[in-house]
Amino acid sequence: AAPLPWTGRKVLITAGPTVEPIDAVRFVSNYSSGKMGYALAEAALSRGAEVTLVSGPVSLPAPMGATVVPVKTARDMLAACEEAFDSADVFIASAAVADFRPAETAKEKLKKGTEGQEGLEHVRFVENPDILATMGTRKRPGQIVVGFAAETSDIERYGRQKLASKHADMIVANQVGEGKGFGTDDNQALLITESGSEALPLMAKTRLADAILDKIEQI
Ligand code: PMT
Repeated sequence: AAPLPWTGRKVLITAGPTVEPIDAVRFVSNYSSGKMGYALAEAALSRGAEVTLVSGPVSLPAPMGATVVPVKTARDMLAACEEAFDSADVFIASAAVADFRPAETAKEKLKKGTEGQEGLEHVRFVENPDILATMGTRKRPGQIVVGFAAETSDIERYGRQKLASKHADMIVANQVGEGKGFGTDDNQALLITESGSEALPLMAKTRLADAILDKIEQI
């Protein structure tokens, strides 16, 4: 049989949410299910690629044949990507990385009803590192870096801004919010590159994954 089209190519994918601990038992996170990133991993595997999937906590089975690196926080995810990026041909950042994390993690469970304090007002948030931007900056000729943009409005404008600011070769921009993007089986995306934008119809994430890989082949 003829070799599969992506045989010998190494693809690094981030998927799922990150979780950022507040105290010994609590965290902040988001609604990412990992479906989009796992669909990309499956699609790349079926084209013959060698896949490393850096995944936040999700309840999906590991794609057969992928190297799965489980992580929790954005900083863990960055460290795992830094380790695998240099040998990757393609990097796809589909994870919903928490932009902020609590500045400190309390070792004990925080107690309610603490005197002189209402609610959790002393939990301060700091910015997490930007994994996609870090990899985009580190990219060498020949490597392809693809990011996502999860937007609630002005998808094309914000997506194009992210293409530039994160030094990506393509941004998959999708509308998120009530029943859209996070957790669903379907997704609608705009594929944004330097040369233009391609609006795709609503489709299964498994099909969108193939459309994204087709576009990467063109790049
Ligand atoms: O997991 P599912 O339930 O299937 O949902 C899929 C999805 C909606 C999560 C996915 O389609 C999606 O949009 N992923 C990107 C979510 C996101 O964090 O978007 P953003 O616009 O905030 O970030 C832009 C890009 O930078 C993304 O590629 C993101 O992975 C990356 N990023 C963001 C922040 C950060 N600190 N590090 C990053 O690498």
